[in-house]
Amino acid sequence: MGWTKEQRYRRVEDVNQVELQNLQTRVNECTWRQTFHIQPLSGLLNDPNGFSFYHGEYHLFYQWFPLGPVHGLKYWYHTKSKDLVSWENAGIGIAPDDYYDSHGAYSGSAIEYEGKLYLFYTGNTRDENWQRHPYQCIAIMEKTGQIEKLTHPFIRDVPEGYTNHFRDPKVWRENDTFYAVIGAQRKDKTGCVVLYRSSNLVNWTFEGELQTDLGTFGYMWECPDYFELQNYGVLMFSPQGLEPKGDLYHNIYQSGYVIGSKLDTITHSLSHGSFQELDRGFDFYAPQTMVNPDGRRILVGWMGLPEIDLPTDKNGWAHCLTLPRELSVRNGKLIQRPVQELQALRRQETEVKGVLKNTKNMYEEFKGVSYEMVCEFENNDAVVFGIEFRAGDDEKTVIKYDTVEKKVILDRSSSGETVGEAYGTIRKCFVNTKKIKFHLFVDTSSVEIFINDGEEVFTSRIFPRENRNEIRFFALSGSTTFQAKKWSYV
Ligand code: FRU
Repeated sequence: MGWTKEQRYRRVEDVNQVELQNLQTRVNECTWRQTFHIQPLSGLLNDPNGFSFYHGEYHLFYQWFPLGPVHGLKYWYHTKSKDLVSWENAGIGIAPDDYYDSHGAYSGSAIEYEGKLYLFYTGNTRDENWQRHPYQCIAIMEKTGQIEKLTHPFIRDVPEGYTNHFRDPKVWRENDTFYAVIGAQRKDKTGCVVLYRSSNLVNWTFEGELQTDLGTFGYMWECPDYFELQNYGVLMFSPQGLEPKGDLYHNIYQSGYVIGSKLDTITHSLSHGSFQELDRGFDFYAPQTMVNPDGRRILVGWMGLPEIDLPTDKNGWAHCLTLPRELSVRNGKLIQRPVQELQALRRQETEVKGVLKNTKNMYEEFKGVSYEMVCEFENNDAVVFGIEFRAGDDEKTVIKYDTVEKKVILDRSSSGETVGEAYGTIRKCFVNTKKIKFHLFVDTSSVEIFINDGEEVFTSRIFPRENRNEIRFFALSGSTTFQAKKWSYV
C-alpha cells in the first residue's frame, strides 16, 4: 500500500481508539511476532536511541512510527529493563510536537548528569517547500521517569560547509568536558562526522570535522558513536552509498567502525586501520553503545534497514532490535558476544553429538522455533559442513563453513517468505579456522549467529512458516565431528 504524506505525518494522538485497536488486532494476529526481542507494539521501529543505565535500570528508546510499517512521523519509544533480558514498555519517550521537531524526533543518545538523564536527539523539520532543517535538541528525564524537553534546541544551525543531512548526536564525557559526535554530509555530498564540545551539556561549540583516513567514503554517515575500549579509540558509524566489494557492503546501507589510537580532541584526528563491517548478515544498522555499571561496553543495533519491505508489513508492524552484545578488542578488531545475562532465558537443555560423513542428520526431539544453540564442529576432511535450521519440507535457513573458500556462509534463499532479494540471498565472510563454533539465537522471525565467540556475527530476519522447526546437521564430501547444545526459550 502506498502511504501519502498526510498518512505518514499523522499523529498517533489524533487517531481514535477504534482505529488503534484494529491496528493492534492486526499486529497481534501476525505469526512472525518475536518472543525475546524488542519489537514495536505496532508500526515501524528503527534505530536504538538513548541506550543508558540510570537510576537502577537500563533505558533503551527506539525510533518509532506507531501507525504502520513505514517511515513516517518518528517518536522515541521508551523501554526499560533491570537485566538487559526482559524489557518493559514504558510508553512514548519523546513526541515530536514542537517547532524544532515537527517532522520527527530523530535519533540520539543519553547521558546522566547531576542526577538526571539528558536525552540528545535531532529534531527533524520540513518547511512549506518540504526543505529539511535539522535542530539538535535536549529532553531531560527525571528519576520519576517524567521526560521534559528544553524550550530551545542546543544547536540551531548546521555549520558552514555541510548540508541539512546533519543528525544523530552521540554524547560522552571526558573528565569535566562533554563531547558530541554528529553524523553529517559535506556540501560536496560526501559523508563525515563532526565534533562539538560543552562544559555543561547545554551550551555547545563546534569543534570541526573528525579527521579520519577514509577520505571519500559514501555520501552520508548516520548514527556515529565514539568510544574508548582497552586503550583504543573506536569510531562507529553507518555510511550510506558504498558500492559492494567482494563479500562486503551487500546490504542497502552499511554499518561498521574504524579502530586505532584515541581521538585527539585538539586536532580531531584519529589514526586507524581500515573500515570494518560490524555484522555480516542481511539486517543490521544504526547500532549504539553504552557502558553499564560494571564497565562493560554494550551494543544494540536495529535489526533492519531502510527501504526494505517485510512480510509483516501487511500486519501493520516492522522490525525489531538486536540482542545486546558485549564488545571487546582482539587483534585490532571488535569482538561481539551476547551479554551473559541472556542465559536467564535458557529453559530445557538438550545435547546431541556425532560424526557426520557425507550425510545430513536430524535427531529425535532436537527441534525448535525459538531457542539458543551452541554447535562446535571439528572438521576432519569434509569440504562443506553446517546446519540447516527453521527447516521443514522445502524451507530452511543454512549456516555453513566452506573449507575451500575458508568462508562462513549464511543462505536465506529458502528461508520462507523472501525479503530484500534484490540485495542477494547469501552472505559470506572469510574466517580462517579449523574448528568452528556457531552460537545461534533463533526467534520466530530472526537469527543472530555468533562465530567463534564473537569474531563475526551474522544477523538476519527470516520468515519461515510457523511449523518449520527442524534442525539438521550436515557434512559434504568427507567427515566432521560435531557437538550441539540447545536451550529452549519458551
Ligand atoms: C538511521 C536514521 C537516522 C535518523 C533516523 C530517523 O536509520 O536515518 O539517521 O536519525 O533514522 O528515523
